[in-house]
Amino acid sequence: MESVFLSLSLSLVFIVAGWGNKTGMALATYHRTCKLVHRAVDCNQRWESTVPEDLPADIEVLLLDHNTIRTLKNTSLWQYQNLETLSLCENKLELIEPGAFLGSRDLKNLFLAGNTLFTNYSVTAAALRSLPALRKLDLSGNHLTEDMVVTMLCNLSSLESLSLARNIIMRLDSSVFESLSQLQELNLEKNYIYEIEGGTFEGLQGLKILNLAYNYIPCIVEFGLTQLKTLNASNNIIEWFLAIEGDAVFELETLDLSHNRLLFFPLLPRQSKLRSLLLRDNEMSFYRKLPNATSLMDVTVQFLLIEGNTTNVTTLSLWEEVSLSNLSSLNFLDMSQNQFRYLPDGFLGRMTSLSHLKLNQNCLETLHIQEREPLGMLTDLDLSQNRLSELQVDLGSEGTLPNLRLFNLSANRLQRVPPNIFTHTEITTVDLSHNHIDLCPQQANANGAEYPICIDLRNVTSLRKLYLAGCGLEMVASNTFSGTPLTHLDLSNNQRALARGLQSLKDISLMLQVLSLRNTGLSSTVEDIDFSGFQNLVSLDLSENSLTSFPESLSGLKLHTLDLRRNRLPSLPQHSMQKQLGRSLNVLYLSQNPFDCCKLEWWDFLHSLRTVHVMDRGQVTCNYSSNIINTVGLPESVLQSCRWMTVNMALLYLVLTLPACLTLLVAFAVIFLTFKHKLLQMVKNQYRVSSPY
Ligand SMILES: *[C@@H]1O[C@H](CO)[C@@H](O)[C@H](O)[C@H]1NC(C)=O
Ligand SMILES: *[C@@H]1O[C@H](CO)[C@@H](O)[C@H](O)[C@H]1NC(C)=O
Ligand SMILES: *[C@@H]1O[C@H](CO)[C@@H](O)[C@H](O)[C@H]1NC(C)=O
Ligand SMILES: *[C@@H]1O[C@H](CO)[C@@H](O)[C@H](O)[C@H]1NC(C)=O
Ligand SMILES: *[C@@H]1O[C@H](CO)[C@@H](O)[C@H](O)[C@H]1NC(C)=O
Ligand SMILES: *[C@@H]1O[C@H](CO)[C@@H](O)[C@H](O)[C@H]1NC(C)=O
Ligand SMILES: *[C@@H]1O[C@H](CO)[C@@H](O)[C@H](O)[C@H]1NC(C)=O
Ligand SMILES: *[C@@H]1O[C@H](CO)[C@@H](O)[C@H](O)[C@H]1NC(C)=O
Ligand SMILES: *[C@@H]1O[C@H](CO)[C@@H](O)[C@H](O)[C@H]1NC(C)=O
Ligand SMILES: *[C@@H]1O[C@H](CO)[C@@H](O)[C@H](O)[C@H]1NC(C)=O
Ligand SMILES: *[C@@H]1O[C@H](CO)[C@@H](O)[C@H](O)[C@H]1NC(C)=O
Ligand SMILES: *[C@@H]1O[C@H](CO)[C@@H](O)[C@H](O)[C@H]1NC(C)=O
Repeated sequence: MESVFLSLSLSLVFIVAGWGNKTGMALATYHRTCKLVHRAVDCNQRWESTVPEDLPADIEVLLLDHNTIRTLKNTSLWQYQNLETLSLCENKLELIEPGAFLGSRDLKNLFLAGNTLFTNYSVTAAALRSLPALRKLDLSGNHLTEDMVVTMLCNLSSLESLSLARNIIMRLDSSVFESLSQLQELNLEKNYIYEIEGGTFEGLQGLKILNLAYNYIPCIVEFGLTQLKTLNASNNIIEWFLAIEGDAVFELETLDLSHNRLLFFPLLPRQSKLRSLLLRDNEMSFYRKLPNATSLMDVTVQFLLIEGNTTNVTTLSLWEEVSLSNLSSLNFLDMSQNQFRYLPDGFLGRMTSLSHLKLNQNCLETLHIQEREPLGMLTDLDLSQNRLSELQVDLGSEGTLPNLRLFNLSANRLQRVPPNIFTHTEITTVDLSHNHIDLCPQQANANGAEYPICIDLRNVTSLRKLYLAGCGLEMVASNTFSGTPLTHLDLSNNQRALARGLQSLKDISLMLQVLSLRNTGLSSTVEDIDFSGFQNLVSLDLSENSLTSFPESLSGLKLHTLDLRRNRLPSLPQHSMQKQLGRSLNVLYLSQNPFDCCKLEWWDFLHSLRTVHVMDRGQVTCNYSSNIINTVGLPESVLQSCRWMTVNMALLYLVLTLPACLTLLVAFAVIFLTFKHKLLQMVKNQYRVSSPY
């Protein structure tokens, strides 16, 4: 009774809420616990163990995810004859009775993920066969083996999209999908597939998207699915990828082979429409320039293809195969996390549409971009985490990289880059961090001579973001960035760069918005740490320096984020927070400073501001008689002692001065006593009053 009343009142509330939406058209109304919008019913997460029987008969969409339905009975859907979409994901579904769908022959989309349909799969299979219009079927996560799958898919010839992800399929052969002639999309990820027999997908003439990710496939040879647009074979153990030879045009646009064990660059179809080639995290390299390579000029590989009792031997010259495929439509190439030591001459030249190239985390030692391989469309180039000590870019008249925007050279061994490499580009972001470089113009060194090698970043008018962390920079000269309107600058971990304070940044101070000066040896004694010129600064990182007092000039800035971690600040001046800084500041980091526990008025004031969020609040500590105490929830005893300390100070002074006073007093007394006689006589003499002795 009570529960009825509860659900009634709930419905009421929901109806009221529904009317609140004045869009007029698709008003939500509520039946007991389900939400009705137009012809769609949402009964997700309602702890239902059966399909509700009293929904409007004309519904088209019924969502019953996250309930506890075990069986879909013959009668369950009988009254919903217009049903087109039914979702029963994450229930405890074991069985769909053969007659369950006889009343809803229009059902097009059926989602059954996360159930236990393996239990009575042959009965369920019969139910599925009674759906002549079924287009989309999701059977993922149902503990199905390949034999069960064969049974369940038999005669589902109307299917266009099928997911069998997260089951226990181990091998595939041509019988599995043979009846699915309309299939366009097939998801087999997260199974245990280690073998796919030739011909498995051959019948699927309309197949466009095939996902085989997270299986145990050891190689893909004779790849001949010309109709496929997307193949995802990432996260397998693939050592070889080899397309069939010939000039057939492949529709392939996206090939994902990342996280595999490829040793060689994949042998791609000669003619394809490939746009994205993802090869991240493999073991690839080019082998022609092996250390003792003279005898290896023509590295070839022989494949033994065994089928039944016939064996074919294919001999391939690896590098030539790469150069034979037409990659003129390739847009995105990810070769990161491999073993590449060099790129063959002309390798990039044929990728005339390439806009993103990721070569980070390889072993590249030099890179030569030639004028005859103009990467005219390249916008993003990531060469970070290699061993590059040399970068050669042949600069044509219009520049070899005219559209380059992001250039990541972080963590290499570069000391220089080709002069003017940045000037003829659209470059906005350069990451040179973790290279041992120096910037031009240089400060003369002790002998008065300049260091010979430096990188010139002056007059790069498009550059906005520059990352120079951990470059071992010598002192930055004041005109280093002149003509380069930087908004983001990272100089962190360069101990000597700002030895003379912020003077070096004066050319760009007004433009800078984000500045990191972490661990740059700044201390409050450096002559010039005046931030007053940085009026557009929004984010400032001053952590890991030796500031012993809060830089007063910060109070006038409109900072949003300020990082003061790991300095030597005893307090933050409250008056700074009462100025502009306190009004704009939103994010503040303060931990690992020796704040004084007895002088935390500013801390309470910060808290009272409410707009300032101390992100590391829990880690902020203060220092009380050589103890380090968490500032949040400072024990009352400490506060007491602090108060006492002020009182005690007065006492202390008293105690300190008392002995001195006493000593003086005693001294006076002694003097008085010693000279008492004389004094008395003096007194007497003065008064000359005769007195009888
Ligand atoms: C009103 O209902 C429409 C359709 O269901 C929905 O998209 C929209 O977000 C709702 N607006 C409000 C204010 O609830
Ligand atoms: C369900 O319907 C099928 C086909 O109409 C029939 O063979 C089966 O016996 C029915 N099952 C039950 C439990 O009524
Ligand atoms: C469903 O499977 C269980 C266990 O495998 C079995 O006991 C039961 O008879 C099956 N039900 C039907 C209707 O086949
Ligand atoms: C599949 O369809 C064929 C031809 O319509 C039919 O002969 C066969 O019995 C069907 N298989 C099943 C399991 O229903
Ligand atoms: C391939 O599948 C994996 C796993 O589902 C996914 O993370 C990845 O983004 C997919 N690749 C593409 C290109 O969609
Ligand atoms: C290359 O040749 C030298 C001398 O012949 C030999 O010592 C060295 O081990 C060879 N290196 C490789 C990788 O084979
Ligand atoms: C072997 O080669 C022949 C002729 O080139 C071809 O018809 C046959 O399909 C190939 N067999 C295999 C297993 O590749
Ligand atoms: C290969 O096997 C087929 C039957 O599987 C047989 O007819 C044929 O003679 C065999 N060929 C050879 C060369 O063994
Ligand atoms: C590569 O393919 C494109 C069209 O996809 C075509 O225009 C171009 O001529 C081809 N290049 C070569 C070298 O075959
Ligand atoms: C450059 O690459 C490094 C490491 O690969 C990465 O941490 C950094 O964020 C990248 N820089 C930019 C500006 O994207
Ligand atoms: C930068 O440009 C300015 C104005 O065009 C010019 O005077 C100056 O010499 C240039 N500096 C460098 C280092 O090229
Ligand atoms: C805490 O203060 C004492 C004396 O006031 C000082 O000796 C000690 O170094 C300080 N501790 C830290 C971590 O700064």
